[in-house]
Amino acid sequence: MKKSIIVPALLATGLWMLLPSCGSNAENGAALRAPETNQAEIPAGVGANENDDDDAAENKGKAAQNSSGDAKAATIQNLATAFTGETTASAKYADYAKKAQEEGFTQIALLFKTASMSEKIHAANHKSVLEELGEKAPEVSPKFTVKTTRENLEDAIAGESYEIATMYPEFLSVAGQAGSQLSLISLNYAYKTEQKHKPLYEKALAALQGNQVNTLPTQYFVCPTCGNTCDGAAPKRCGISMTGGERFVKVNSL
Ligand SMILES: [Fe+2]
Ligand SMILES: [Fe+2]
Repeated sequence: MKKSIIVPALLATGLWMLLPSCGSNAENGAALRAPETNQAEIPAGVGANENDDDDAAENKGKAAQNSSGDAKAATIQNLATAFTGETTASAKYADYAKKAQEEGFTQIALLFKTASMSEKIHAANHKSVLEELGEKAPEVSPKFTVKTTRENLEDAIAGESYEIATMYPEFLSVAGQAGSQLSLISLNYAYKTEQKHKPLYEKALAALQGNQVNTLPTQYFVCPTCGNTCDGAAPKRCGISMTGGERFVKVNSL
């Protein structure tokens, strides 16, 4: 996995905004917009005046260095936090899939199983980046509670919403300040994929509430590089990581 994320990831960095994330019928546009990262942020006062004297210039250099060092340390912590979150989400969704199956909601079980696979890919990517940075991923003992499928869907929507609105945008901003390209790639893969998971869960919850679970998709595809998740059909090329659609993993059985 370590090697597999790097080459396609680097290819993807300049092009992912141009592709739909899942085939031609994907909900692209806003879903593929980059977060408001702050990659060029400079500490207050640094670089503001070209006529500063040598001492001031030296202090500015130290300030920038410290800021970059702080951002690197924070990025390592953020990757560890993200690894823990993704590992927990993967285990949780796998158990939510079993619960949905018990309750007779086969299509929702399939969605949870698919998302579990996707979160596992995010966790593996974050782990690979931590190792590239000379760190070890933390030991994780996932803690969660399995409730009814309706409540499990609500929990999943809340979790994906937090990751989309708060966690990954913040982590991406700090990784940008740190100048950590691999961190940016791995975090962005997860950030973009969670934007796919949330509407899939919302659609499943609406179907459950409307007693129309049987109308939900019976087949999903997961990108092995970034975890991108598509219902119905695989795209020709992943809109997040540019991985060829033929490499997508089909999920159509429990
Ligand atoms: Fe994830
Ligand atoms: Fe997710």
